Amino acid sequence: MTAALEARGVGVSFGGVRALDGVDVVVQPGEIVGLIGPNGAGKTTFFDCVTGLIPGEGQVLVDGRDVSGLPAHERSRAGLGRSFQDARLFASMTVLDVLTVAGERHQPRSPGVLKTLLGFDGIAEAKARKTAAEVIETFGLQAYRDKLVGELSTGTRRVVDLAGILVQRPTVVLLDEPSSGLAQREAEALVPLLQRMRADLSCALLVIEHDMPLLLDIAERLYALETGRVIAQGLPQDVVHDPEVVRSYLGDDPAAIARSGSTR
Ligand SMILES: Nc1ncnc2c1ncn2[C@@H]1O[C@H](COP(=O)(O)OP(=O)(O)O)[C@@H](O)[C@H]1O
Ligand SMILES: [Mg+2]
Repeated sequence: MTAALEARGVGVSFGGVRALDGVDVVVQPGEIVGLIGPNGAGKTTFFDCVTGLIPGEGQVLVDGRDVSGLPAHERSRAGLGRSFQDARLFASMTVLDVLTVAGERHQPRSPGVLKTLLGFDGIAEAKARKTAAEVIETFGLQAYRDKLVGELSTGTRRVVDLAGILVQRPTVVLLDEPSSGLAQREAEALVPLLQRMRADLSCALLVIEHDMPLLLDIAERLYALETGRVIAQGLPQDVVHDPEVVRSYLGDDPAAIARSGSTR
């Protein structure tokens, strides 16, 4: 089976600081994998490097295709999805328009003259609009489709962010703390949503999340990072009870460990 994402020997240095060193992460098609670790472990740096935002060492394959060395937008086009960070810029656009633009940006460009002569632009937009409408349905955003993004609650805007990734039809999606800044109820609502993302598009997810009960609800496997290295990987219950993980991440607080072992 060709992995959805295969990252081998990923290394990043910031000046003299070795932020990541020899990190191997593999995500199978349709799999939901969690990435945990204490603050400063290198989780976000790993995402930045894999998506091509910052340079680093190692090899990255998306659906078997080597994207190492490609710029971020080409990795995205190869099926590597990431959160739609520009959402703030589009506060004055409607949900439907934002999602249409997100999908359109992802389609191959046709030459300018052909576009004008043959109306390719219109075809691309109609296609993107149709996909946007489908994703709005999948995510239960119908009530918001004509609302301005700037008027939405943080929780709903987060859902629109996720929808903005989905319209790009990715093979694998990297999510950095999707629950951050959300109220407990909004965070809990992410669980069925992330599962639907996987089911409806059979896309794989690699999720950084500090809300351990939330992560344990969705993740089939975990990787634990500490100071730039993978210190444990495997089934979630094994990883959260791994002595080194308990020591490094969960600390000596027995309550924190008990909480992390329970699922909602
Ligand atoms: N742009 C940067 N310049 C210098 N050091 C950085 C930069 N980004 C992250 N770091 C350092 O790299 C390490 C890993 O950070 P980060 O990936 O943000 O950790 P995490 O997401 O696991 O909390 C930390 O020591 C952090 O200070
Ligand atoms: Mg981080």
